[in-house]
Amino acid sequence: MSTFVPEVREYLFKILVIGELGTGKTSFIKRYVHQYFSQYYRATIGVDFALKVLNWDDNILIRLQLWDIAGQERFGNMTRIYYKEAVGAFLVFDVSAPSSFNAVLKWKHDLDTKVCMADGEPIPCLLLANKCDANKEGIAADPEMLEKFTKENNFCGWYYTSAKENTNIEESAKFLVGKILQRQ
Ligand code: GTP
Ligand code: MG
Repeated sequence: MSTFVPEVREYLFKILVIGELGTGKTSFIKRYVHQYFSQYYRATIGVDFALKVLNWDDNILIRLQLWDIAGQERFGNMTRIYYKEAVGAFLVFDVSAPSSFNAVLKWKHDLDTKVCMADGEPIPCLLLANKCDANKEGIAADPEMLEKFTKENNFCGWYYTSAKENTNIEESAKFLVGKILQRQ
């Protein structure tokens, strides 16, 4: 008698978390990986790492290597090194800070000029309109405009998220990982 043992496929995905200072990149990761939130702000220096293991389904196990890039790195030259071999990205802005939205395209451009898929396509990048528990200002208060903006600028989608209130954290991660899997 033989027992059928389904083969488990394993993936390791390097995912970047980028965006302006204080938008909640570290908080997003802390919430997602450690189910934890702190009001206290301590700026990330350079880059931090976190690992999340996902049992995607019975046959697929995914290790997510999350690269938490300091917002202040937009002014540095290290991103080329940090972005290397990434297969997906979260680009985070703060719905209560319009200046963080104004920098979104600079980050997207930085990303797309420094990393791409083997076929030359941009890596899947999901826009996170974070701190959605707070007052939304400007375009952040207009879902239709955000939809249009993300379509026009080659994002794979967008979510309102709150690391504080645990809104759409799992959902947005699942969405991005799904997009990455489609490209494998
Ligand atoms: P850098 O490391 O400097 O690039 O910043 P960051 O993007 O990692 O921001 P961080 O996660 O450190 O959060 C900055 C501040 O915003 C902290 O005081 C957090 O508590 C707060 N914050 C993060 N996410 C949320 C959220 O969803 N809602 C609210 N209200 N505050 C948040
Ligand atoms: Mg940080």
